[in-house]
Amino acid sequence: MRIAMIGTGYVGLVSGACFADFGHQVTCVDKDGDKIAALRRGEIPIFEPGLDALVNSNVKAGRLDFTTDLAAPVADADAVFIAVGTPSRRGDGHADLSYVHAAAREIAAVLSGFTVVVTKSTVPVGTGDEVERLIRETNPSADVVIASNPEFLREGAAIRDFKFPDRIVIGTSDERARKVLGDVYRPLSLNKAPLMFTARRTAELIKYAANAFLATKITFINEIADLAEKVGADVQEVARGIGLDNRIGSKFLHAGPGFGGSCFPKDTRALVKIALDHDVQLRIVEAVLAVNDNRKRAMARKVSSAAGGSLRGKTVAVLGLTFKPDTDDMREAPSIPLVTGLLDLGAKVRAHDPVGMEQARRELPDIEYCDDPYACVRGADAMVVVTEWVQYRTLDLDRLKRELAHPLVVDLRNIYRPEDMAALGFIYESVGRGL
Ligand code: UGA
Repeated sequence: MRIAMIGTGYVGLVSGACFADFGHQVTCVDKDGDKIAALRRGEIPIFEPGLDALVNSNVKAGRLDFTTDLAAPVADADAVFIAVGTPSRRGDGHADLSYVHAAAREIAAVLSGFTVVVTKSTVPVGTGDEVERLIRETNPSADVVIASNPEFLREGAAIRDFKFPDRIVIGTSDERARKVLGDVYRPLSLNKAPLMFTARRTAELIKYAANAFLATKITFINEIADLAEKVGADVQEVARGIGLDNRIGSKFLHAGPGFGGSCFPKDTRALVKIALDHDVQLRIVEAVLAVNDNRKRAMARKVSSAAGGSLRGKTVAVLGLTFKPDTDDMREAPSIPLVTGLLDLGAKVRAHDPVGMEQARRELPDIEYCDDPYACVRGADAMVVVTEWVQYRTLDLDRLKRELAHPLVVDLRNIYRPEDMAALGFIYESVGRGL
């Protein structure tokens, strides 16, 4: 199969490299000339475990290349994937589809032979119809089918998620397009990943419903954590106790500082807007958004009350800034409202992150950055764990205690055991562990 992948963001680059690894011939296209030049030099613009090696081995094998010009790869392709960004539109929370629409017009102009154009970006229900309209308007004689194939990969686990998905959703009712996309994903169906064929609009809605449901699960357990703190229960055992019921499932029940990232906040906001456009009010999803926003803001107050009610003149060491481990992504990271709140409460903030500090500096310019977690906590009045990087789990706790001026640890990801911390003489606060 010959594939053109339009957009080399997270989804585009990972999907392009994985398709090449399946043995397909893939060209990744991006308008950003610097990015394409860097990729051609073998430099990967994002931090994603394993991506560097995957891209470079497939380039070497001659199955993957990069260009800024979509004409030739689209003309040659059996399938063209649109994986450009769909950011939140400023002001109204709708998904901004201008990049998708521009890509559709450009693709239309150069189509040749039977081609399946596939939206892989997360797009509102009905976007496939609009892409089809734009393509047919630009090139009325094109032999083309427009399909939806949403992606469910997570940052930090992107390659594994792509290669071992729980399911592949293909939204098109056209038999020729189903055959082409079935062939594209054949290596995965051999891995027993179920290929689910649906209508296009259904596929578009599956993506938003999945993200909104996961965001709801996280928010639900976060509220139960608040209650657990008050009634003297342990939210982690509650999560395990409910998660062992197969109807509930154990994943995405880790209480924490609230969800962030480039997907859940943006997609839940967009889903609420899509629904309102169709006169449907998604009250649960609206509540999830509001609860999560409040929670992120409340985390600075949690630190303040753990520190005795005031942070004025105190130094707080923040460990972990990215929205989750194994990524350098700071988009909607809980660390941003937390640090801003700490500064507003009069604290001095020092921070460490294993890979995200360069990105963090743009969001949080007014704090001190430390190259090493021990240096970060040295002389501080409190340490706050915001992102559960694996190296923070294995820190030398005795040494941490010696470095801190005051042995207060606020662990917003529950990475330490309360009994260990108590035995070492820490004052220890975590999430939902009211024992
Ligand atoms: C999410 C979905 O998990 C993917 O399936 C989806 O493809 C992706 O969005 C997308 O739409 O592109 P991602 O944003 O990379 O993936 O990260 P997640 O691992 O889902 O984490 C999102 C946020 O939820 C993080 O801030 C994380 O810390 C938080 N989270 C997650 C919790 O607080 N508790 C949990 O139990 C799980």
